[in-house]
Amino acid sequence: MKSVLIVYHSMTGGTQQMAQAAARGAYSQGDVRVSLLHAAAAGTADVLEASAYVFATPENLAAMSGLMKDFFDRTYYGALDRINGRPYALLICAGSDGTNAAQQIARIATGWRLKAIADPLIVCTQAQAPERILRAKRIPESNLLECEELGATLAAGIGLGIY
Ligand SMILES: Cc1cc2nc3c(=O)[nH]c(=O)nc-3n(C[C@H](O)[C@H](O)[C@H](O)COP(=O)(O)O)c2cc1C
Repeated sequence: MKSVLIVYHSMTGGTQQMAQAAARGAYSQGDVRVSLLHAAAAGTADVLEASAYVFATPENLAAMSGLMKDFFDRTYYGALDRINGRPYALLICAGSDGTNAAQQIARIATGWRLKAIADPLIVCTQAQAPERILRAKRIPESNLLECEELGATLAAGIGLGIY
């Protein structure tokens, strides 16, 4: 059975909601297994097992979050040359930017020879002052629908053998 692995990290909840929405979308396609894993819980075996990926991270200090980086550090060489050509999508939750985190993960995905199925989906929470940055996030329904659609597209694509 084909499967989608969704790996995420989130400090104040925004990325988690986006990853959960992508998982809902992927589940909605039926014949595809979906694993939604926190970055700290995901390992090389999960990466090797999956047919497609969604990577979801906050942008912190103009980079992917530390735990997301740790996930790639732990899995990169174990998966290198063993997952070539598999499709992936990228979700970024940022205060106001998100492009650096997206570029970092895209470069890693290029190293893995993965194929992006869409441009990175970046949601900005407009958190810039410390008190807003540290506050729990609530991602608007319209953005969650976009994440859901991306998850559904990825799952449908692998189910039908398009990707
Ligand atoms: C230490 C730290 C650094 C951050 N740096 C950036 C940044 O460089 N660019 C940006 O757009 N947002 C930045 N943010 C804002 C977060 O991306 C924003 O709060 C986002 O909603 C976090 O996602 P989360 O709710 O999944 O943790 C930063 C937040 C923290 C805590």
